[in-house]
Amino acid sequence: ESLAAFAHTLEAWYAQSSRDLPWRHTGDPYAILVSETMLQQTRVETVIPYYLRFMERFPTPRHLADAEMDDVLKMWEGLGYYRRARNLKAAMEVVRDRHAGRIPDEPDELKALPGIGPYTLGAVLSIAFNQPHPAVDGNVLRVMSRYRGIEEPVDLPTVKRRIEQEVAEALRHGTPRVLTQAIMELGALVCVPNRPHCDVCPLAESCAARDRGLAHTLPNRLPK
Ligand code: ADE
Repeated sequence: ESLAAFAHTLEAWYAQSSRDLPWRHTGDPYAILVSETMLQQTRVETVIPYYLRFMERFPTPRHLADAEMDDVLKMWEGLGYYRRARNLKAAMEVVRDRHAGRIPDEPDELKALPGIGPYTLGAVLSIAFNQPHPAVDGNVLRVMSRYRGIEEPVDLPTVKRRIEQEVAEALRHGTPRVLTQAIMELGALVCVPNRPHCDVCPLAESCAARDRGLAHTLPNRLPK
């Protein structure tokens, strides 16, 4: 199956070519949740110093739950989208009060926490708990729509769902904590929006978009 090859090829590439990022040195689900929350609307280089300061100041769910909201917001200053910080603290209050201070590994329990949408859910379950749950952000939509040659607009719910299923299937052929980040990393370093670096892409031979000369045009989006 080609998703098995996709998984193995990307994981091998990731082992060789991934960036050394601070949240890749931890298996702590709380640290993964903090980093993925920050990374949702903010670029990696900006997030790094915020992540390091935040984890030093609030090293566990309990530290964040017990903190003053003003102190939390102060640590977030400059990252923007302060709603993310408010939700993260509220979520850790639930984790303190109902989950004995530990981030749950059950999808339904995680999903019930404030601010945990489909992306964050998949990121925590796959990266922290190694479960085959897809975490589909813009990078992943781009990589998968190109690899599979999907020309329908990726903002259609049925198309997004199909991509989530493809990623879930790929994760079952690999190691979710590695493969999730490997897909994101390919999207960040190689399978970039305008001029993808197909010449160095480990998936080039089996990429449907490249085969049809569409690598630089996909993904398609609905007209505004
Ligand atoms: N963007 C979202 N999640 C990421 C991660 N874990 N590493 C790098 N970039 C990301």
